[in-house]
Amino acid sequence: MVLSVNRIELFQEAIQFIHSCYDELGISQEEQLMRVKEIEEEIIQTGTYTHTQSELTHGAKMAWRNSNHCIGRLLWETLEVFDERQVTTAKDAFEKLKHHVDYATNDGDIRSTITVFAPRVQDKDPLRIWNHQLVRYAGYEDGATIIGDSASIEMTKLCERLGWRGNKTPFDVLPLVIQEFGKSPRLFELPKSSVKEVPISHPEIKGISELNTKWYAVPIISNMRLDIGGIEYPMAPFNGWYMGTEIGARNLADADRYNLLPSVAKLMGLNTKSNRSLWIDKALVELNIAVLHSYEKEGVTLVDHHTAAKQFKSFEKKERSVGRRVTGNWVWLIPPLSPAATHVYHKRFANDIMTPNFFYQKDPE
Ligand code: ARG
Repeated sequence: MVLSVNRIELFQEAIQFIHSCYDELGISQEEQLMRVKEIEEEIIQTGTYTHTQSELTHGAKMAWRNSNHCIGRLLWETLEVFDERQVTTAKDAFEKLKHHVDYATNDGDIRSTITVFAPRVQDKDPLRIWNHQLVRYAGYEDGATIIGDSASIEMTKLCERLGWRGNKTPFDVLPLVIQEFGKSPRLFELPKSSVKEVPISHPEIKGISELNTKWYAVPIISNMRLDIGGIEYPMAPFNGWYMGTEIGARNLADADRYNLLPSVAKLMGLNTKSNRSLWIDKALVELNIAVLHSYEKEGVTLVDHHTAAKQFKSFEKKERSVGRRVTGNWVWLIPPLSPAATHVYHKRFANDIMTPNFFYQKDPE
């Protein structure tokens, strides 16, 4: 039987993946060839192939290692991989997602985790999740003002269309929206006890806790597709832990997100009339100190940007020592606070896309 073009491409990607994965795992050439033969048969019979547990596990780790946006890749081998490819219903998927949140949160001692659901078959996604992250705050437009996270406005509207009603606080945790192929999406609420949050306070500036700001403990990206050896996993939520600046220099600071810098500057008694007072910069630093302090106080894992950059340097060294090229996206890798104070700023990285990897994908319809 002759393979169609799609199947040939799939087979070629599979061959490439099997060789690099098995080489890394120290598996013999002989076994590699046997596995390749087996995959060829399966593709001829079914049009696709099924990863073994260890291919899935190591493939997911390789995908993290190849993620050019990520400064935290030194830890790629520590990823915990849950194989939930057998799940078929939205309800069961929700149970697995809840388990992911609980396992990853681990009462603040965060564990890097991915849960892999069924792959795409013949352009069909057996399961999809609509959320950008498993935990994220809603955002509401109220005339010209916005309550909550402006990044979630569309998602919040969608949840409301599906019948959800938030409390309209700035920190309403969105429900999970899970869809089985060919069915309407369904809403599920994570129990409050599963969603760990950190109230933001500052070691000296007492007024900061009166801003009543908080952030959630674990960033679990859920809208990206995991690709391993030509197989696409459209639902494979994954997490590491936060770097402080993601919260303190972006989520809470961006003028079109929580926009806290003017309030922080006011608390600090800074002159906000003049750019040259550097009130923005001073407020930014103190807000970031507050984030680092608060996560530490609450016992939730989080890394500062200087330490993260050092860890990335170790990653570069380690990769070079085993003969792999480090790819990266400079724009994403430099921290948004004091970038030139890290070595990353002074380097250039080839932004080549290696596989396995995580990819943006179209939102479900
Ligand atoms: N920047 C995103 C956020 O602030 C999270 C992206 C993933 N971050 C991570 N440390 N793994 O919500």
